[in-house]
Amino acid sequence: MKYKLAIIGFGNVGQGLAEILATKTSLLSERYGVDIRIVAVCDLLKGSIAEPEGFDPQLILDHVRSNGDLKQFPAAYKDWDARETIEKSGANVLIELSYTDLETGEPALSHIIQALQLGMNVATTNKGPAALHFPKLLALCESHGGRIGVEGTVMSGTPTLTLGMNSLIAAGITKIQGILNGTTNYILGEMEKGAEYSAALEDAQARGYAEADPTGDVDGHDAAAKVVILANLVMGQSMTMEDVNCVGIRGLTKTDIKAARDKDQRWKLIGTVDKEGDVIQGSVKPARVNSDHPLHGISGATNAITFSTELLGDITLIGPGAGRIETGYALIGDILSFSR
Ligand code: HSE
Repeated sequence: MKYKLAIIGFGNVGQGLAEILATKTSLLSERYGVDIRIVAVCDLLKGSIAEPEGFDPQLILDHVRSNGDLKQFPAAYKDWDARETIEKSGANVLIELSYTDLETGEPALSHIIQALQLGMNVATTNKGPAALHFPKLLALCESHGGRIGVEGTVMSGTPTLTLGMNSLIAAGITKIQGILNGTTNYILGEMEKGAEYSAALEDAQARGYAEADPTGDVDGHDAAAKVVILANLVMGQSMTMEDVNCVGIRGLTKTDIKAARDKDQRWKLIGTVDKEGDVIQGSVKPARVNSDHPLHGISGATNAITFSTELLGDITLIGPGAGRIETGYALIGDILSFSR
């Protein structure tokens, strides 16, 4: 199977995907019989290039790293906007990686709708469309024959949605709880070591963990979007962002962190989907966890999630929650799932 990718948005995650393709393309082709090529890259700031036969991913990466953009990169077609790229590049997979907007889902939503209407497959790590408009996107898949993969929207390349939606489908999931944001977990850990909040945040940004606008991370909205995605895709709910009781980590001071540490506790930002009476409720809030709590030892940008089930008890998955390669990997998983 030949997958021709049009990548919209070439920041950390897009470059992570290109890095994986630069080293793994032959392996993917030999082992899984898939030929994955990047035929277009379109980025608001870095420029736009398209080549029907496909680019060498390493050359694109080298060029971006030494020039900061793709404006002088040799290509058959240049300067297409996102709409033209999706329409004219000959791609059969849209890799949607534009910035996340958790209020409207735009511009990613329009890009994805356009691609699905053209019968393309879509893989995205953008939480906006997945949290706000997933049923509509699934309906477009059904009517036009494409597929959509959103594995990387929760816990980056750690196969969280695949586990919840496939392996645990009949286990009777009653509750989901975990650390769902890498940036805040990293910041809290650095503050425990004595760092200032702003320095820890800058560090998380430099490491590629934070969103383009890190307010979404520190105020809990990123984790809230993941709570909504888990509730809806894994537990079949119709939760919205407004339904999630959301508190971030901005209010936590060094004194709070020290007070916890003195009692051998740690602050963690915890996202939960749980039953309250007959109603499924979503929440994100900081909590002090004891040293014997399963989430106590989860450090840095690592995430962890526990699915509580009727048939299997608790199943906990621990793995990367953010990062360039880690999130790029989720897209590879989505693409491979298109041919299964
Ligand atoms: N900004 C997000 C995080 C990226 O820190 O978890 C992965 O969704």
